[in-house]
Amino acid sequence: MTDNGLPRTIVIFGASGDLTRRKLGPALYSLHAKGRLPTDTRILAFARTDWDDDAFRRWLGENVREFQDGFDTAVWEDFAKLLHYQVGDLTAADAYVDLRERLEQLEGGPANRLYYLAVAPRFFPSAVARLGEANMAKQEDGCRNIVIEKPFGRDLASASNLNRCVQAVFHESQVYRIDHYLGKETAQNILYFRFANTIFEPIWNRNFVDNVQITVAETVDVGHRGDYYDHAGVLRDMFQNHLLQLFTLVAMEPPAPYNATTLRNEKVKVLSATRPVGVDDVVYAQYDGYRDARGVATGSRTPTYAALRLCIDNWRWQGVPFYLRSGKALAAKTSEIAIEFKRPPYQMFGAFQTPTPNVLSLCIQPDEGVHLRVDAKVPDQLREMRPVNLEFHYRTSFECVGLPEAYERLLLDALNSDGSLFARSDEIEQAWRIIDPLIESWEKRDEAPAAYASGSWGPAEADTLLAKDGREWHIGCGGHPE
Ligand code: BG6
Repeated sequence: MTDNGLPRTIVIFGASGDLTRRKLGPALYSLHAKGRLPTDTRILAFARTDWDDDAFRRWLGENVREFQDGFDTAVWEDFAKLLHYQVGDLTAADAYVDLRERLEQLEGGPANRLYYLAVAPRFFPSAVARLGEANMAKQEDGCRNIVIEKPFGRDLASASNLNRCVQAVFHESQVYRIDHYLGKETAQNILYFRFANTIFEPIWNRNFVDNVQITVAETVDVGHRGDYYDHAGVLRDMFQNHLLQLFTLVAMEPPAPYNATTLRNEKVKVLSATRPVGVDDVVYAQYDGYRDARGVATGSRTPTYAALRLCIDNWRWQGVPFYLRSGKALAAKTSEIAIEFKRPPYQMFGAFQTPTPNVLSLCIQPDEGVHLRVDAKVPDQLREMRPVNLEFHYRTSFECVGLPEAYERLLLDALNSDGSLFARSDEIEQAWRIIDPLIESWEKRDEAPAAYASGSWGPAEADTLLAKDGREWHIGCGGHPE
C-alpha cells in the first residue's frame, strides 16, 4: 500500500463501539502524535448511531482523553481534522452505496483503503458480502485491505466457512486477521531473541530443553462480558489465538528468507505437527463465583481456566512437552514463556546439592523483559549454591522508549500491507484443528469443571498435570514468588 503513492482511507465499521473508543481511536491518535500516521491518511467512521462529523469527533476525543496517556489538546485538534463520520446500517446493501459515494467524495480520486471490521463476529459475513456487492473490494483504484477482529469463527467449521466467505470477495493477501498478542513488542521480541543471537538457537531443542511452559494469567474476572464469555470460554477466548500464537513463535523453525509468507509457513508447520491432545492432558476449571456474573447461565460449565499439555511431532521437539495455561480471576496478571532446561548430567558438587534447572523466562507482560535463572555459589560457604536471576528489562534498557500499544503496530502494518503479524487462513484453521476436539469432548462430557478460588493460581488439578510428569509450573517474571 505504501509504494503506490496514493492517499489512504481507514474505514472503521462499528465506529461507535467499545473497540474504537478504547483501542483504535487511541492507537490512531498516538500514531498521529508520533508522526507515524502517513500525512495523507483520513479516517471514515461508519456506524448506526445518529451522529455527524463533529459529534463523532467530540465523542472520540473524550474517549481518547480517557484511554491515552499524555493526551495533548492541540495534537488532538490536528488529528480530529482527519476524522469523518457516516451513518449507516452495515447489514443493509443501500448503506454501502451511500458509503461508497461518501468515500469517493472524500477521496476525490484513487486512494488506498483499509476496511476495519470492529464489529461483533456475527456481522463479519454480511459486511464482507456487502463490500463485494458494492464493488468495494476490487483493487482498481488503489489497494483494498480488510482487517477482521477476533474471534475468527467459533470452531473449525465456522472458521473455514468464514474463510471461504471472505476469500470469495477478497484475495488472501488483502485480509488481515488480528491477534493483538502478535502486536505486543515482547511477542515480536521472541523471534529477535531467538534468531538475532547465536547463543540460544543451538540449545533450543529436545537435547537441552526439558519442557516449555506458557502462562497467560489474568486477574480480571469475566466482568460485564458474561454474555459473550459464557458462550466462548477460555479455550476459544485465549487458547485458539493468543496462546497458540505464542506457542508457534517459540517452537517454529527460522523462516528463511524472513518475510510474511515464510514466517507464517513456519508457524503453520508447528501447528500441523502438533499431536491431538489426549483427554488426560487437559484440565478445565471455573473460578468460584463465575456463575453469579451477569449474562452467565445458571449451572454454566464454561471453563474460565484451562491447562494443557501439547506435544510436537517433529525432529526438534520430539519428547518435549509444552504446557499451556490461562485463566481469569487469578493471583497476578502475567504473560510469560518459561523454557526449562535439562539438569546437568553429573552432580559434581555433591549429591545433597542438586542443581535447580536453568529456566529462561520470556516476560511478555507486564514487566517486559527476559530472565535467566542460573545457579551461583553462595559466598563464604563451602559448597552451597542458590538460584539467581540474570535479567533484562525493557523499562531500564530502553528507558526513553515506552512500549507502544499493540494496535498501533498492527494498524500501521495493515496500512502498509505487511501481513507478518496477522494470522493467515490456514494458520487459523490449524489452530482450530487443535482446539476444536477439546471443546467438543468437553461439551459432551457431563462433569463439572474443577473449581478454583478467585485470586489463586488456579486448580490443584493443573499442578497435578505437571506433577505426574515430575514437573512444576514456573512463574519467573515477577509478581509471584515460586
Ligand atoms: C482478549 C480476550 O482477546 O484478550 C480477553 O477476549 C482478554 O478476555 C484479553 O482479557 C487479554 O489481553 P491482554 O492484552 O490484556 O493480555
